[in-house]
Amino acid sequence: MLRTASAVLLFALGTAVCHAADPVAGKALTDQNCTHCHGTEVYTRADRKVQSLDALHRQVQRCELALGLKWFDEEIANVSSYLNQEYYRLK
Ligand code: HEC
Repeated sequence: MLRTASAVLLFALGTAVCHAADPVAGKALTDQNCTHCHGTEVYTRADRKVQSLDALHRQVQRCELALGLKWFDEEIANVSSYLNQEYYRLK
């Protein structure tokens, strides 16, 4: 019984960790792929376009597709979470 419970707990923890967006991984992806066309100034300019988390996610995907990177949803989420934590600070 105890063993089953801890297996379930471990599984739940593993799933939670896997699905939480990782801004550190997102920073690495951004630094490697996202500095050719624009720098970080587009994220902080006064008239920036992105005004919601949803829009941020879509814009990251748009730029990523323009690059032909074929990122997984998780990588898009990691980059969005990094950009939000570092620059946008949207709720
Ligand atoms: C092929 C060129 C190109 C690359 C490479 C590129 N972007 Fe962009 N990005 C653009 C253009 C063009 C805009 C719109 C700029 C404007 O409106 O002045 C933009 C705007 C953005 C914005 C919105 C800025 C705002 O106004 O709020 C975000 C966020 C963004 N890019 C993220 C990324 C990410 C993440 C990557 C790496 C996956 C990336 N970009 C790589 C061309 C690019």
